Parts: sequence; structure tokens; C-alpha cells
Amino acid sequence: MNASLIPTITFDLHASEQPVPPEVRANLLEAPGFGQVFTDHMVSLRWSTDRGWHDGKLEPYGPLVLDPATAVLHYGQEIFEGLKAYRQESGQIVAFRPEANAARFRRSAVRMAMPELPDEAFVQAIELLVTQDRDWVPVNPEHSLYLRPFMVATTVALGVGRPANSCLFLLIASPSAGVFSGGSVRAVSVWLAEGYTRAAKGGTGEAKTGGNYAAAFAGQQQAIDNDCDQVVWLDANEHRWVEEMGGMNLFFVYGSGAGARIMTPALTGSLLPGITRDSLLRLAPDLGIPATEGAISVDQWRAGCESGEITEVFACGTAAVITPVGQVKGASGGWTIGDGQPGPVTMRLREELTGIQFGRRPDPYGWVHKII
Ligand code: PLP
Ligand code: COI
Repeated sequence: MNASLIPTITFDLHASEQPVPPEVRANLLEAPGFGQVFTDHMVSLRWSTDRGWHDGKLEPYGPLVLDPATAVLHYGQEIFEGLKAYRQESGQIVAFRPEANAARFRRSAVRMAMPELPDEAFVQAIELLVTQDRDWVPVNPEHSLYLRPFMVATTVALGVGRPANSCLFLLIASPSAGVFSGGSVRAVSVWLAEGYTRAAKGGTGEAKTGGNYAAAFAGQQQAIDNDCDQVVWLDANEHRWVEEMGGMNLFFVYGSGAGARIMTPALTGSLLPGITRDSLLRLAPDLGIPATEGAISVDQWRAGCESGEITEVFACGTAAVITPVGQVKGASGGWTIGDGQPGPVTMRLREELTGIQFGRRPDPYGWVHKII
């Protein structure tokens, strides 16, 4: 279609008449945890085969009413994103690479046979919600406003003969600390999921869809039962190659000091292409730390730690930021990475990345998107 004929997506504004009182909000912002506190508003937008995108609204945050036969409740046709808005030292509020999340949201939509939301509407929804609920963007430099755009299939029918003919896009926001932060950065322990598979080539692993997470909970429970914080997923074919964690990508640090380099498992089709991962692949070389994509097996991981070749391992993602990994456990035993504590390369990259996000460092990549 000629671009000038694509109808513009608009959002009507309905401000809440009962926003959370400022003193209650201040209390909630003290220690928000992760994904437990929500702001006063949300954005909603509908799509149908006959009307396209329509009925855009910024409205009070609240429950949804869905017919019990709604497709998403039965077949899990859903996609989501996760990104953050930061209050910088200057007072400016920015989002980190929202255009990258918009593009991944479209790719997830294609995989799940859902409509592609135009990037401009995705970013516009974020700008609207963050501007309306700006008082919820934390002042604490360890905290930020986690944004959760998502889309569900709302077709009311139990047949699976055709993809959705109607969908609902929503955007909610949640002031949050990092998922693992309890004040200071600590190294986490990970469990190797040897008995389960998260994703296989040709499946949905590289889409950000709820079913991937539903399928991961049994493995995550196994991690918890073995006193580990998170599960590490291996490839579906050989159960040998390291892929990623439940909600974050992994990086391996080889060597130390001026000789340090980092490597992350390549995107084989079953991993989520993380935006933090992509940012580090671009940022690290500019800091003098060569960065590559590659492959590492569980045996190589263990041997590398034992020989001292692998000095640090860290996880990265929007919610997790950059989190050091200290211990690995699996059905056949475990090992420690370095001295089991956060390492210097991990902490340097964390400082540099959060420095760009919070405006303490220049942003030569144009990653920071100004909202207000
Ligand atoms: N892998 C999985 C399975 C995830 O859920 C996430 C989180 O979004 C990531 C990796 C990291 O992606 P990003 O850096 O875009 O947050
Ligand atoms: C994110 O970092 O946005 C994630 O998706 C992790 C989330 C599943 C907690």
C-alpha cells in the first residue's frame, strides 16, 4: 500500500480520575521489586481483519473482560516485549532502543501469525504512557520504569482452523529494581536444564511469546529445587551446546586485564536475539574488549573454568541488566566460575551500559530515545 494511504493510528486520552495518591506512590517507589507495582494508566489498541488497527486509547490501568472462548486463553497466541524508561541525572526521561523492541515485536508477530504493529505506533504508545505516568519513573538511579508491551489474540472461537481475526495490543508500566538486585550486584547460580528443552530450530524460541516461558517454568522449578537462581537452556539436538537463560542471554569472558575478550552463543534460531546482547556486541569492542558470537558446550564451559581460561560469565537482559554468574550446577555436579564473585569485565560493562542508559556517559550509538 502507498505509505500515504496507510491510516494514522491515533490514541484517545482518558486520564484516571483516581490516580494513586502521591504519598502512596512514593512508598511504592521505595522498594518496587520487579513487576509487582503498576502505574495509573495503560495503552490499548485493537486490530481486526476488517478494520485494521483501531480504537487506540490511553486509559486507567485496570482489569480486562474477555469471553471465556477467547483464543489466547486456549492456544497461547501472544507476544510481548520488555524495555525500560530511565530518569537521567538531568531530569530528562528516556527509553533505551525502543525502535529495536518495535522491530522484534513485529518479527514475533509474524512468527505467531499475528498482525505487525507499525514501529511508529509502538514508540508512540510508549511516549504517551511514559509522559502521562512520568511521576512513576523512579528517581533512584538503581531503578527504572519497566515497560511491557504485549498483544493477545482475541478471536472468540475454539476452532484452530485459521489465525486470529482480532487482536488486542496493550502497554503497561511497572517501576522496578533489577530482577536480581537486592541493593548491590551479586553473582547468581545457574542450573543446567539437561532434561528439558526450551526451544528447537523452526520452533518459537527466537520469538518473544508467552509459551516459551510457560514451557520453561518446570526447568526453572528444578533450578530452584537445586538452590539455583536461574536455569540455563541447552540446544535441543544434542543437549550439549549452551543457548541462553530463562529470561536473559549469556556472555563468557576469556582472559583478563588488557587481554580479556567476550563471546556469546550465536543466534542459531532457537535463542531470543536480546537487545542488551546486541548492545554489548557493539559497545565492548569500543572499550577495547573484542566481542564475538560463537558456540560453547557444557564440557568446554567446565574445562575453561577449571583451566582458568574462562574468567567470568555474565547474563544480560532488560530486566536483569548485567548479572554475574558465579556457580553452575547440573545433574552430574557443578563448578565455580573464577572466585564465584562479580568480576571486573562484567562490572565494567555494566557500568558503561547503565552509564549510557542513565545519561552518565555519552551515547555515540544513538540508543537513548528522549521522551520528556
Ligand atoms: N532471552 C530471553 C529468553 C529473554 O526473555 C530475554 C529478555 O527479554 C532476553 C534473552 C534478553 O533480551 P533483551 O536484552 O532484549 O531484554
Ligand atoms: C526482559 O528482560 O524484558 C524479560 O523478558 C525478562 C522477563 C521474562 C522477566
